[in-house]
Amino acid sequence: MLNDWYFQCISCNWEKPISQPDPVGFLCEKCNDLLQIIVKDKFPKREELFAKDVQISVWKYVTALPASKKVSLGEGGTPLLKSRNLGKLLGARNLYIKYDGMNPTGSFKDRGMTVALARAIESDAKILVCASTGNTSASLAAYAANAGLKSAVLVPEGKVAKGKLVQALAYGAKIIKIRGSFDAALEMIKELVTRDKNFYLMNSINPFRVEGQKTAAYEIYEQLGSVPDYVVLPVGNAGNISAVWKGFKELKEWGITDKLPSMVGVQAEGAAPIAEAIQKGYDRPRVWEEPETKASAIRIGNPVSWKKAMNAIKESKGFALTVSDAEILESRRKLAAYEGIFVEAASASPVAALKKMPEKDGVTVCIATGNGLKDQELIEWNPEELPTADNAEMLKMKMMK
Ligand code: F0G
Repeated sequence: MLNDWYFQCISCNWEKPISQPDPVGFLCEKCNDLLQIIVKDKFPKREELFAKDVQISVWKYVTALPASKKVSLGEGGTPLLKSRNLGKLLGARNLYIKYDGMNPTGSFKDRGMTVALARAIESDAKILVCASTGNTSASLAAYAANAGLKSAVLVPEGKVAKGKLVQALAYGAKIIKIRGSFDAALEMIKELVTRDKNFYLMNSINPFRVEGQKTAAYEIYEQLGSVPDYVVLPVGNAGNISAVWKGFKELKEWGITDKLPSMVGVQAEGAAPIAEAIQKGYDRPRVWEEPETKASAIRIGNPVSWKKAMNAIKESKGFALTVSDAEILESRRKLAAYEGIFVEAASASPVAALKKMPEKDGVTVCIATGNGLKDQELIEWNPEELPTADNAEMLKMKMMK
């Protein structure tokens, strides 16, 4: 089956079968642009992909993936929750939350990691590396641990949520800091993997990551029973919006669906190169040298997958929106308080963007990309101020207040 899969350049259409070794740094051997992975001729079939008696998970869709399962922590199969309260409050009657923060390490990265790990093992990779704003490093470290492989991660100093670093530490990754941004970290990692083949790239430039992440689209289709009108998600390095769009496009190309959603990419006001480019009609994003937002997961000024993401937004007749940190934190609070869904800051940005959508009646899926336990330090509270009770009578009074 895997013989039908090819690396394909997103710009010049250079191709080679994935049965051959990975191109250096996963870049086109002709023009150096990003690669995607495509399947030719033998398209996956509806009955195989969406079998009724198989539980939803990333590997349920193995016939649509360019690798076979090697390590799994139970990724995918996350809930698609119809909003009970918040949608009404925001005037979005058909709002759904795809809770990808329920993945094994608490973010959507696990979808891509399980597939990229399968490829890394097939490629006899030695040390798995990534640059990260936090979640990729946590996910990589966990899957590498499960596979018995070494992982090393490079993170921007002082800009990664504690919960994510603690995960990477616990799973046994070598953590190295850079006095600079995520963008500088990614540049350094790219240089490292081109210099020395012992280091294997696990960022979303690695198209096997994208292949795993596209399963969110398959799951949304399967859980909803149809294709939604809008899929709204946070955009940082721009891999995930590209991946989810690829998933929906494939379902159409393979004759399984006839509709496509509009993709809505959301960025923080202080880190919005893609939204700026779309809104101002630039051909390519301007590099933001000093991106700034409390939503540290998406604090990115030079998104590597910008071309794929801009294509996704334009092709799908979607749009790009920006939200302030205050709006993000308020939406995070509301998601928890009105729905019982606790997400990290970046993951609340789609809900924050809802009020800026031109149309609110369509079936809208916001992807809640990461778990709220990751960046608890952003929530201001003082345990000292909680009321105390010494007996049941006092307890009753305090509880009723
Ligand atoms: N949401 C969360 C929780 C993330 O961690 C990220 C990216 C995104 C959204 C944006 O996804 O980069 O594919 O556009 N986090 C990366 C990391 C950059 O290193 O963990 P994207």
